[in-house]
Amino acid sequence: MDEIKYLCDILDFHLYHVRSIGSTNTFLKENYTKYPDRTIIWADIQTNGRGRYNRVWESNDDYIFSILFKENYSNEIIAPLAVVRALKSIGIDAKIKWPNDIYLNNKKLCGMLIESIYSSKHEATIVGIGINKNDKPEVNGIGINKDIDYKDLITKVINNYNDLINDNFDNYIDEYIDNNIVINKEIIYQNDDYIVTGITKKGHLLIKKDDIIKEISSDEINIKEAMKN
Ligand code: BTN
Repeated sequence: MDEIKYLCDILDFHLYHVRSIGSTNTFLKENYTKYPDRTIIWADIQTNGRGRYNRVWESNDDYIFSILFKENYSNEIIAPLAVVRALKSIGIDAKIKWPNDIYLNNKKLCGMLIESIYSSKHEATIVGIGINKNDKPEVNGIGINKDIDYKDLITKVINNYNDLINDNFDNYIDEYIDNNIVINKEIIYQNDDYIVTGITKKGHLLIKKDDIIKEISSDEINIKEAMKN
């Protein structure tokens, strides 16, 4: 692993950069006691990047960073919304695929790995964000495909994150719901077909099969339409 260098503060966040690292999430999970609240580690290369459900997250020259929080926020809602707001501000009409993937034109543009550490109480949460710079056809992924400066993009995400942290959940949950692509879509959940009927004010997904509605708080769903591409 290369040396981790402090770069600057963005509001109350502390930005560090490393050229190459195994995984920015793993590093912060293992070292959260040594770094202050709101530390961001931004890497050029991850050699052991991790996705949700123990998947490998391949990244090459992508926008990859993790943020350490020692307080507990509604990160499952805030993180995707902060990224969507940042992308919209640079002309990319990105949407959320519940719970926290970011899609563009039915293809995945960004994935998030949100991990919390508890002992007797909440100790830390690490929000890992990977935004594709270029298309990844092998995994149906799409890239930003624009020459956006890394630090500028991270700064935009952090500014929006900061606004949302300081706002009330009730003020932004509708924006999260309205920016989701899953409503009315046919999906596969736990090997069964469902239709998404809505998202609750808590951010839970409502899915229907045979006139029975289920509410799920967090899990993986696959949109059938996106699987055809
Ligand atoms: C997913 O869609 O499965 C989540 C992907 C999360 C990738 C990011 S890249 C920065 C951070 N470090 C990791 O090892 N993973 C996250």
